[in-house]
Amino acid sequence: MTKFVYCFFRVVRTCLEILSCMIFRLISKWTPRKSLPPISNLLLLESATSLAAKIRDRKVTSQEVVAAFIDRIKEINPILNCVVETRFDEALKEAEALDCELRNTSKDNETLAKETPFLGVPFSMKECFQVKGLHQTSGLYGRRDIVAEEDADVVRLLKKAGCILVCTTNVPELCMWWETSNTIYGRTNNPYNPMCIVGGSSGGEACLQSACGSPFGVGSDIGGSIRMPAFFNGIFGHKGSVGLISNRGQMPAAVGSLEKMLATGPLCKHAADLRPSLKIMAAENATLVDLDKKVKPENMRIFYIEDDGGSCFTTPVQHELRAAMRAVVSHLQLTHRVTAKKLQLKELRNILPMYLAMMGSEKQAPKFSQEMVMRKGSLCLWWESVKWLLGQSHHTFPALALSALEKVTSDDDPRAVELLKQAGALREKLKEILGDDGVLLFQSHPTVAPYHCQPLFRFFNFCYTALFNLAYLPVTQCPLGLSKAGLPLGVQIVANDKNDHLCLSLAEELEKSFGGWVCPSVVE
Ligand SMILES: *[C@@H]1O[C@H](CO)[C@@H](O)[C@H](O)[C@H]1NC(C)=O
Ligand SMILES: *[C@@H]1O[C@H](CO)[C@@H](O)[C@H](O)[C@H]1NC(C)=O
Ligand SMILES: *[C@@H]1O[C@H](CO)[C@@H](O)[C@H](O)[C@H]1NC(C)=O
Repeated sequence: MTKFVYCFFRVVRTCLEILSCMIFRLISKWTPRKSLPPISNLLLLESATSLAAKIRDRKVTSQEVVAAFIDRIKEINPILNCVVETRFDEALKEAEALDCELRNTSKDNETLAKETPFLGVPFSMKECFQVKGLHQTSGLYGRRDIVAEEDADVVRLLKKAGCILVCTTNVPELCMWWETSNTIYGRTNNPYNPMCIVGGSSGGEACLQSACGSPFGVGSDIGGSIRMPAFFNGIFGHKGSVGLISNRGQMPAAVGSLEKMLATGPLCKHAADLRPSLKIMAAENATLVDLDKKVKPENMRIFYIEDDGGSCFTTPVQHELRAAMRAVVSHLQLTHRVTAKKLQLKELRNILPMYLAMMGSEKQAPKFSQEMVMRKGSLCLWWESVKWLLGQSHHTFPALALSALEKVTSDDDPRAVELLKQAGALREKLKEILGDDGVLLFQSHPTVAPYHCQPLFRFFNFCYTALFNLAYLPVTQCPLGLSKAGLPLGVQIVANDKNDHLCLSLAEELEKSFGGWVCPSVVE
């Protein structure tokens, strides 16, 4: 019986894939392509770490840096629509005050670097986080007038480290889909090709980073929401170990066991910014992991898995992505003389049912359809669907589809217990394989950034990232140059719990050898 259902899924998925490729290729052929304005201010290309050092050493003022990024946002946002709310005047005033203080301070730059590591550096936040005085809608139309009254933990810690918030960035409705689009702010476009998606849910954030509108930013991830957008926009992102960074102050909030699946973390175009921003955001909990420790690939055991073993729910991995992973493996073998071991885990075919069982297992958590109506009453799905068809709904199609999926899966499925057990066994297996020196390379996603709306034809491809929320493991998303079509390639670097330093070390090494982020604009 299940075999028949899986076979049916595979046939449907393959037909949708072929159909969608034909339609979307045609549409894209007929649509003129917009390109981003060139970059003339070289400050925009620098890491947050290097900008902070220059500001501390009085080589550049915070005001100049903040103004440069504001100008860039004004230039790119009409094309990309990644920024949803700004505080330009306040940010400039804060920068001016900081510059004044810096001219006057008796502290030497070593002390400043210790106390306020990112003094004067601008940053951006995914809109679902609380920022005092700014909207926190999470892309839900019903929340369009809600303004946060306090700062989320990470916002407070970043401000304390001297950072200056410039803007907030777009998300999908309630952060629960992997294309960034909602009925308040609209849809965000990919900087490498505006016809393509930015991913989700930290999609606006990753897009802004890649297009040089901010030196670093913050996202969150319960199924790939940091890593998918980082991959589609060719930048770095890190989902840390469980408990490293506070998730408090974001909407929707993770409850009970789901808290272990959700991670808040940085998105940035240079690997050098990952460790310092993680340290700031983790505050006293940075001691849980050894964030300063650097490990050479020679001293790691490297594993790689090429795909999910042919699950009937996901698209087969594209050739160029397979080749990119092989290039990494042979680089590690030839240059660093490590033997990378290929793994095949048949359990991976079942990521989707295991992940859905885990997401549905927390009985305290409100249902997605309840969140959609702000926990007041219940969502009338068929009526909303009729309204959607007539173009009158304030909800997005993926949100309606997800609440329909929730209806069919969450009603005390007797298989759920078994699936949770399987997920636990897979988690233990991965832990045992990785130990304290193992690193696993895994595809970030089966395809490069799809066209807008195409994710609806590839609904479950997020399984490639969701695996590591299910497994509670830290992952760094690492870019690996561009495909023939000019879209970012990349890989996930995974380590055991509390071994974030291994993922970070390998990402830094691969940035050096493979070039890291590639600027989507011409640099003049
Ligand atoms: C600089 O410091 C002096 C003495 O510490 C103080 O009187 C003055 O107001 C400060 N100026 C600024 C611009 O902060
Ligand atoms: C402090 O300033 C000196 C001289 O400008 C520079 O060499 C040094 O690297 C700086 N230290 C830090 C921590 O920025
Ligand atoms: C550190 O972890 C503890 C325990 O999980 C938590 O209560 C606290 O809020 C965390 N602190 C930060 C800054 O994340």
